[in-house]
Order: sequence, then structure tokens, then C-alpha cells
Amino acid sequence: MILSETDVATRVVRWQASHGRNHLPWQQTRDPYKVWLSEIMLQQTQVSTVLGYYARFLERFPDVRALAAAPQDDVMALWSGLGYYSRARNLHRCAQTVVNEHGGKFPRSAQVLATLPGIGRSTAGAIAAFCFSERTPILDANVRRVLTRVLGFDADLALSRNERTLWLHAQSLLPSVDLDTAMPRYTQGLMDLGASLCTPRNPACPQCPLQTLCAAHREGEPERYPVRTRTLKRRSESWWLLVLQDPVGRVWLSRRPAVGIWAGLYCVPVFPLRSDVSVFLDGAGPISGQTMEEGAPFLHVLTHRDLHLHPFIVRQYGQAAPDDGGAWFTAAQFGALGLPAPIRKLLAGL
Ligand code: ADE
Ligand code: SF4
Repeated sequence: MILSETDVATRVVRWQASHGRNHLPWQQTRDPYKVWLSEIMLQQTQVSTVLGYYARFLERFPDVRALAAAPQDDVMALWSGLGYYSRARNLHRCAQTVVNEHGGKFPRSAQVLATLPGIGRSTAGAIAAFCFSERTPILDANVRRVLTRVLGFDADLALSRNERTLWLHAQSLLPSVDLDTAMPRYTQGLMDLGASLCTPRNPACPQCPLQTLCAAHREGEPERYPVRTRTLKRRSESWWLLVLQDPVGRVWLSRRPAVGIWAGLYCVPVFPLRSDVSVFLDGAGPISGQTMEEGAPFLHVLTHRDLHLHPFIVRQYGQAAPDDGGAWFTAAQFGALGLPAPIRKLLAGL
């Protein structure tokens, strides 16, 4: 599907002027302090609630220096009732960063704004577009819905690679003329479309300025977008790492299966239970001069799993080697092997 850039942007800009929200207090200014404050408040709170808090905040803290100089308790007290209090703590820290590291002036680019506490990529884009007309995209939940539908973008947004691709599409759809007025209007227009017409359920496609361009509407099932699989719950598990060292100091390593955690890398034998280790050692034959030692367990964090690793170290191991296709390796050979980082660290400490 090929969309001409000007089509989407021009329609959104025109629609925003006639049908969008244009009288919200934070739209009457290009002061980044005020716009930033409104965007942080609007992140998890609806407009009607934000209005009163926004006014009280600006009255008490009229500029970024006033906010930065305030005691944290005062900031928290004024925020009280808005919820998500980490926003207030970040707000205060951000004000102090702007004062201490940016001379009291908000940075003018989305890229630098996004380095400040509590300002994510989309909020940074909104501030830069509203205040400085930077040609930079936003992608909050509303805008993500509008754009995936218009584009027919059905890749799974649970994968960061697909999220990145959507950001690239968002960039390519931006207005390319009259940026000074078009960027604020376009940015607000996408937010307004997502809030009023392109709703999660029953979007009002007949009233939508993008209807004739919209892939999801053409397909007839706009609610199918955006596509995001359930974010996997973090799991936590324990692995027992059996470090076998033979009398000449070599360590038994075998290759992990081609799929799963540490696929294809070399590793010591792994057991899900401590009792599995005992079963293995008892079956390995009579114990001679060998010593056993349990190392301190350590945490290894993977994308969807916390691995609690429990090293179990047997020195002077003289019994039958595990039947797992592995081999004995000297410390000098470790360097050339593909080893998971925590295993390499464990072996280095033997
Ligand atoms: N939600 C987030 N930003 C907003 C804005 N600028 N106007 C209305 N709602 C919003
Ligand atoms: Fe959303 Fe419908 Fe407009 Fe497409 S046509 S952007 S689905 S409201």
C-alpha cells in the first residue's frame, strides 16, 4: 500500500483546524515549561481532571526555576489526587535537571528532551512539535491506534523491532510544508482523531478525514488494530549449575540445544532441581577425593525470565562424565568457546 505523505498530513491538519480541540489552556502557549507540564499530567489522566491541577500548578510554580527550587513535599502535595506519583517525582527532578544542566531553558530538540527524567520519546516529540515545530513524530496509545489502522500495520507491537518500524512510518507521514503551523496542528490532530473518532471500539469512520486512505477501514475490521500479543508475564526460575572439574583442572562443558536460552552456546550441565544434582552425582559412581561446594546463587535477568543461578562445584571429579555430548576443556580453551556471560564469569572465578 502506498500512501502519499501529503494526503494524510494535509487532511489531519485541515481536520484539526475545523474539528479538533483548540481551546485547551496549554494550546495557548509555546512555552515548553507549560507544554511539558500539561503533557506529563495528560499521560495517565483525562483532560477534564488535568485542567484544575494545571492551573494550580502554574499559579504556585510559574516557571521551571520556581518548580526546581520548591521542596519535594510541596510538589507532591499539589500533585496529590492525580495518581501515578512517580510522575511528580520525575517532574521535580526534570525541572532541576533543566535548571542545573541546561541553564534553565528546555532543550529544543526531541532527541535531547528525551534524555530528561520522565520524558519518553513520544512526550519529547509532542513538546518539540508543539513548541518548536520540529518535524518529529509522536506515538502515544491514541496515535499508535490511528496510524496502525491507516497503514494497515499488523505486525506485533510486543516486539520492539516492529515498534521501531512503526516509528519510521510515523516519521514518513509527517507534514513537509508550512511546518511552523502544520507541526503543532498535525500532532494535536492525531491525538484528537484518536480521542474522538478513531476510538478502540466502534471507530466513527464515516466522519473521519482519513477514511478514503485507511487500510483498516477498507478491510472492514479496524478494531483488529493495533496488533499486540499479550506481554509475557515475567517468570522466575532456579537453575542448578553443576561445575565439574577433573583432577587436572579441566571443566566439563557441552553445547546447549539449538533453541531456547543460550542456544548453541557451551555451558556446564544444568539441572532444574537441587535433588537432580544429587541424583546425578550418586549415579556417577563412588566418591573418591572429590570436594563439593555450593557457590553463592546469583541472578541473571533475561527478557521474560529471572534466572536464579545456583552453582554447585565439584573439584577432583573422578567419576563418569555426563552423557550429554560434552567434553573436558582447559581454562586456556574457554576464551575461544561461545559461553554465556554469567557462565564465563563463574568459570573465571573457579
Ligand atoms: N493528551 C496528551 N497530550 C494531549 C494534548 N496535547 N491535548 C489533549 N490531550 C492530550
Ligand atoms: Fe480510524 Fe476509521 Fe479513520 Fe481509519 S477511517 S483512521 S479506522 S476512524
